[in-house]
Amino acid sequence: MDQGDKSTIRTKTPTEIILATPGLSPELKQKLLPIISALTRGGKIMSSLIARGPLLGITGSAGKENVQGEEVQTLDRIGQDTFCRVLEETQKVRELLSEEEPLPTFFPESDPDGLLVAMDPLDGSSNISVNASIGSIFAVFRRSKTTGKENLFGGDDRELVAGAYILYSASTSFVMAIDQKTYLFTMDPSFGGEFLGTGEPLHFPAGGKIYSTNESYFPLWEKRIQDYILWVKSERQPVMTSRYIGALVGDLHRNLLKGGIYLYPAEGVPGKGHGKLRLLYEAYPMALICQFAGGIATDGIRSILSIKPGSDLHARVPLIAGPMDLVSEFHKKTGNPL
Ligand code: AHG
Ligand code: MN
Ligand code: MN
Repeated sequence: MDQGDKSTIRTKTPTEIILATPGLSPELKQKLLPIISALTRGGKIMSSLIARGPLLGITGSAGKENVQGEEVQTLDRIGQDTFCRVLEETQKVRELLSEEEPLPTFFPESDPDGLLVAMDPLDGSSNISVNASIGSIFAVFRRSKTTGKENLFGGDDRELVAGAYILYSASTSFVMAIDQKTYLFTMDPSFGGEFLGTGEPLHFPAGGKIYSTNESYFPLWEKRIQDYILWVKSERQPVMTSRYIGALVGDLHRNLLKGGIYLYPAEGVPGKGHGKLRLLYEAYPMALICQFAGGIATDGIRSILSIKPGSDLHARVPLIAGPMDLVSEFHKKTGNPL
């Protein structure tokens, strides 16, 4: 595209986009606006800390394990504290679920009709110490009106109204899915860290040729997944290429811009494996972002967004995500046409 083209000029903030979105009710906007502002504020803080990470001595392990039994990095903790604080300050989040805490955090001072947020405050932890791409992921839910008992994360009646991620890389990106559209913003550190975008919705490009998966798990996958990968590598036309960063945010972002399929299948017994990525704060928000960009995310059988969360708020799911053409092709090849 011509660099002088007006559509390349980035002047729109996430707030302006939300205010101009007709499909969101004034009541929802009034809650969503401070929450999205809090996410970008937290993103600025994280971006600045990550950029100076080794100088501040924050790129190592925190010396403990999280609820998933994974080693907690110092930046996981900083991400947790940062986003927890900025979200609490909005007083529009009633309860916050995080990868880093076994139970959701209830904010008693908040609006009783406030929204629910689920987050992975730092995604791609293994990339921290090597200065590779990392991110933060958020899902924002609205609750149905209830009488008496509050319908929080323990309840079962919630609707995903926004998905977002922040990518900390050569530049810092903020991607937000609201009301059927996905938008990209880039942080401009020279103007107080404002996130600016074109205002044009993002779409997966057609004809993507990237597949992203950790192939070292090949022996653990179901045969139908193995067969698909073997087909991709030996027969598919046009030929595909493999790219894998090892951070969902980084891998999905590249695939969103270039066209590619992300696969983190279940391991082990067919139909019983659980995958690695967490439903509420990794798969859900990425599924909304993909869907509003003209794609889809599935667990290999059904749409991620059709899966009802059970009682385990940290449940894991297999994740296949990308543009409709590539995910449909995967489903056709693996015997579950969409
Ligand atoms: P987290 O750092 O929040 O635990 O998430 C890491 C996830 C995801 O971002 C990434 O795609 C995947 O783990 C990488 O896992 P493998 O190292 O098994 O490929
Ligand atoms: Mn993660
Ligand atoms: Mn994480």
